[in-house]
Amino acid sequence: MKRVSFAEFGGPEVLRLEDAEEPHASPGQVRIAVRAAGVNPVDWRIREGQILAAHPIELPAGVGQDASGVVDEIGDGVEGITVGDKVFGEGSNTYAEFAVLSAWTRMPEGLTFEEAAGYPSVVETALRIIREVGVRPGQTLLVSGASGGVGSAVLQIARERGITVIGTAGAANQDYLRSLGAIATTYGEGWVERVRQLGPVDAALDLAGSGVIRELVELTGNPEKVVTIADLGASEFGVRFSGVAGSVPDALAEAADLIARGKLHIPVEKSYSLAEAAAAHIDSRAGHTRGRRVIIV
Ligand SMILES: NC(=O)c1ccc[n+]([C@@H]2O[C@H](COP(=O)([O-])OP(=O)(O)OC[C@H]3O[C@@H](n4cnc5c(N)ncnc54)[C@H](OP(=O)(O)O)[C@@H]3O)[C@@H](O)[C@H]2O)c1
Repeated sequence: MKRVSFAEFGGPEVLRLEDAEEPHASPGQVRIAVRAAGVNPVDWRIREGQILAAHPIELPAGVGQDASGVVDEIGDGVEGITVGDKVFGEGSNTYAEFAVLSAWTRMPEGLTFEEAAGYPSVVETALRIIREVGVRPGQTLLVSGASGGVGSAVLQIARERGITVIGTAGAANQDYLRSLGAIATTYGEGWVERVRQLGPVDAALDLAGSGVIRELVELTGNPEKVVTIADLGASEFGVRFSGVAGSVPDALAEAADLIARGKLHIPVEKSYSLAEAAAAHIDSRAGHTRGRRVIIV
């Protein structure tokens, strides 16, 4: 089969489209014929060797953790799924013709493979950090960096729960944030004052890692009401870094339910072929994705 891999850490040029052995489902896993793979910032962070402590890998290595596709092999102990089912979920080496998933759910009717591949990690992350920051219905949540993949999921899940969201994004994404139910404002010079004028903030999420933890603590008045997924220096301010996936075991099923009820839709900004994986990484790394980027297999 074809898969994208790299034999040394480095820039996008280390990515190769190569022939590789097909993976097989171990106990508790399913294998899918991949139709699309989601592109996440973690994919190029791993390729660059940035986060080896959290993601130890052996080279050569495949790329990608999110995918959608058709189940074609079922590991021992797996129940409730049949060969031929359309699923989306999280696994490993998903930029490939076949991949194994360790968490999955059936795709809702009407969802395309392309769209489905964009959901798994960002929805898991969104559900996890909304829980960790402890924001309740009727309260106001500030989201710094709200227009990307995780932000798009956070805004819609919060809206569904009756939480008011103030989101920051670039000037080009203000209408996009409003379309997802948020009160929008721009980041950059004067942003703290703009947020203050919108009203009090009960809790805050930092999704962009743009060095705003001190300001988020000031705006909420409490470091325990701030969570970041992107600023490794946050502990200096007493703020939690959330990095461990899997604490919301039903995240994918919840996502499928929200999608089926029309409460969650994350647009795909751009799709790429397997051979264009390097371009997908370059575009993702530029840091201004609206919604999701996806590789079509
Ligand atoms: N710890 C975890 O568990 C975990 C899980 C998932 C992701 N992450 C990390 O979280 C980050 C976000 O992930 P993602 O998938 O949502 O990324 P993404 O889709 O690439 O989105 C990045 C967003 O950042 C915004 N942005 C850029 N510069 C900004 C600034 N100075 N202030 C505020 N926003 C800014 C962009 O908005 P504009 O286009 O409007 O400028 C863009 O929408 C990445 O660093 C990723 O590695 C961590």
